[in-house]
Amino acid sequence: MPSLLVIGGTSEIAKATALAFGQDGWSVELLGRNQDNLQKAAAELSVKMGHATILYHAFDVMDGNFSDFWKSQENKPDAVLCSVGLGFDPKHSQYDRSLTEKIYRTNFFSLVSILDVVASSFENRGSGLIVGISSLASEWSRAYNYTYSASKAALTAYLAGLRHKLADKGVRVITVNPGFVKTKMIESLEVPPYLISSPETVARDILMAVKKKKEVIYTPRMWRWIIFILKILPEWILKRLKI
Ligand SMILES: NC(=O)c1ccc[n+]([C@@H]2O[C@H](COP(=O)([O-])OP(=O)(O)OC[C@H]3O[C@@H](n4cnc5c(N)ncnc54)[C@H](OP(=O)(O)O)[C@@H]3O)[C@@H](O)[C@H]2O)c1
Repeated sequence: MPSLLVIGGTSEIAKATALAFGQDGWSVELLGRNQDNLQKAAAELSVKMGHATILYHAFDVMDGNFSDFWKSQENKPDAVLCSVGLGFDPKHSQYDRSLTEKIYRTNFFSLVSILDVVASSFENRGSGLIVGISSLASEWSRAYNYTYSASKAALTAYLAGLRHKLADKGVRVITVNPGFVKTKMIESLEVPPYLISSPETVARDILMAVKKKKEVIYTPRMWRWIIFILKILPEWILKRLKI
């Protein structure tokens, strides 16, 4: 049975993806910063997966030592999904230095320090799958979210480089770019309902990407074309757009 370690295991998208993989015959393990929420997520997942055992570990990506955690794992997973992310509150000033640093540290620096450990281990083993959840925002930086966008753009570039580096080492790297997804992360945003998808849709698309050996996905798929069109519009039109 292939195994999946989910980093950011209490995220809505992560929970839906863990379930999709579990129902597809994978064993699943969760990593997250809040012990109580993790326990709840693991219990819910276990019930939905026919009372399968779901291990979980408390780990805060901002101050945990991932290398120590990884070394402590006797059986390394076949795949790692990284779903950690710190969103943005449009009401907060983007000029807030400490918030900006927190977003960059959470969404980029801490994830790089984790994925470097995973990538190096998978490279030595000669096999493995890394799935990183970036965002459509990595390609669509707007007034209300540009700090978050910049952190995701950095993550996307990092994942692309890792994919290139590990291409002939038996290790696959998938970049996932969700559009707006109905989770607590976008609660404070005013988004037209028809642009919002569900965590289950993202989960299904991630599993499909793994099976079909895709490398970069937009989920739902319509975003690939929407972003393509938006990017060819002139700046004077972009400045007038609300999204
Ligand atoms: N929702 C969207 O519209 C959307 C769109 C594009 C991309 N994404 C990306 O999708 C991923 C999942 O987000 P989501 O929508 O499912 O939102 P979410 O439920 O808020 O998930 C965010 C996850 O990151 C975890 N996290 C934040 N800081 C952490 C830290 N220091 N240490 C460990 N874990 C930490 C959170 O843990 P806690 O549960 O403890 O807070 C939570 O599990 C994120 O990378 C996000 O950027 C979301």
